[in-house]
Amino acid sequence: MNSLGSAAGANPPVASFAGSSHSDGLKNRVPAPRIGDIRLAGPFFQAALSGYSDLPMRVLARRHGAAYSLCEVMLDQFLVTLTDRPKTRHFLDIAPEEHPVGGQLMGSEPIQFAAGATKLAAAGFDVIDINFGCPVKKVLGRCRGGFHLSQPEVALEIVARTRDAVPADRPVTIKMRRGIDDTDESRDHFFQILDGAFALGVAAITVHGRTVKQRYVGPSRWDFLAEVKRHVGPERTIFGSGDLFSAADCLRMINETGVDGVTIARGAIGNPWIFEQADALWRGRPLPPPPSLGEQAEVIREHFRLCQATYGEKRSMIMMRKFCIKYSASHPDHQSVRDALVKVACPEDVERVLRDHYRGDLPGRYVPREIHDSQSEGC
Ligand SMILES: Cc1cc2nc3c(=O)[nH]c(=O)nc-3n(C[C@H](O)[C@H](O)[C@H](O)COP(=O)(O)O)c2cc1C
Repeated sequence: MNSLGSAAGANPPVASFAGSSHSDGLKNRVPAPRIGDIRLAGPFFQAALSGYSDLPMRVLARRHGAAYSLCEVMLDQFLVTLTDRPKTRHFLDIAPEEHPVGGQLMGSEPIQFAAGATKLAAAGFDVIDINFGCPVKKVLGRCRGGFHLSQPEVALEIVARTRDAVPADRPVTIKMRRGIDDTDESRDHFFQILDGAFALGVAAITVHGRTVKQRYVGPSRWDFLAEVKRHVGPERTIFGSGDLFSAADCLRMINETGVDGVTIARGAIGNPWIFEQADALWRGRPLPPPPSLGEQAEVIREHFRLCQATYGEKRSMIMMRKFCIKYSASHPDHQSVRDALVKVACPEDVERVLRDHYRGDLPGRYVPREIHDSQSEGC
């Protein structure tokens, strides 16, 4: 039976978890989670983000308080053919300071997952995550990502083969949307995969509370996350995803749904400060002020340095431009800074914009949620 109701509208209030209010943090109430034997320092993670969660973004997320981060999704076939060429080497790059870090893969044929997963494990990823959530049309058309939510037997064969291929001490996890659509059949499939995957030994499951069909239209259903967590009980680890655009959102998701941790996605692009802000609230401290313009400039410079080291001079400009546009959202004069940053063509241009617009200790701003919410494409 489908008791979830419509996907439209705002998240209805759900039962408060452990009796705590979201204004007073969760210290000593919800422990930092584990993924298998990996003990994490806190419950806030950098989500997998295709086109974004590369080494520079993950390193900055970790330095700013993310307890764990995930690499962008990679195709099993791509992983198998991946060589040490300068153009693609960065996909498997891991900085010593970013452990624990997860590598994510997707594909269509169960038999091909083993080789891809083995490659991720050999590259040094601490956790191997399987993508059963991507709603991109081309991905679904090739029977990958979210498509597997419609075929539980195949999905569970993928899990079994991946678990068998990866060293026993390396946790395997899954990322799922809450179903293909809102039908009873889709709901049944979701729980079949969820229960079956835990029975096969996965260490944690991340649930994004939107359906594949929904893509990014309408809210992520947090009441569904609460139901999933109640269903699996305290012994099994569930992470939540969807509509985490501020530190308060992150605390509220944990508080209202009982999930063991949350993966911050659009809300962390150009905004690594969200991790330290959420962590402060979790530890019962006041919300830190938004980063000053001087602090923002330093992080943008460091991001650029990491990009140059990862991609070389030319490609780092392309990567940096899209991140800079996101960084500009923390500037009170967002529009004119954004206009200046879209035009940057060389490192000197970036430095000039930073000098002209990011002077001193002037205050920044918390990123308004509409800015992140407006990005409605992604895996
Ligand atoms: C640009 C973009 C790329 C994404 N890439 C991935 C990915 O590679 N793997 C994955 O599991 N989810 C991916 N996602 C989904 C996010 O991890 C997350 O589940 C989703 O955006 C919902 O969270 P949010 O509403 O807080 O952004 C992507 C989302 C976006 C917007």
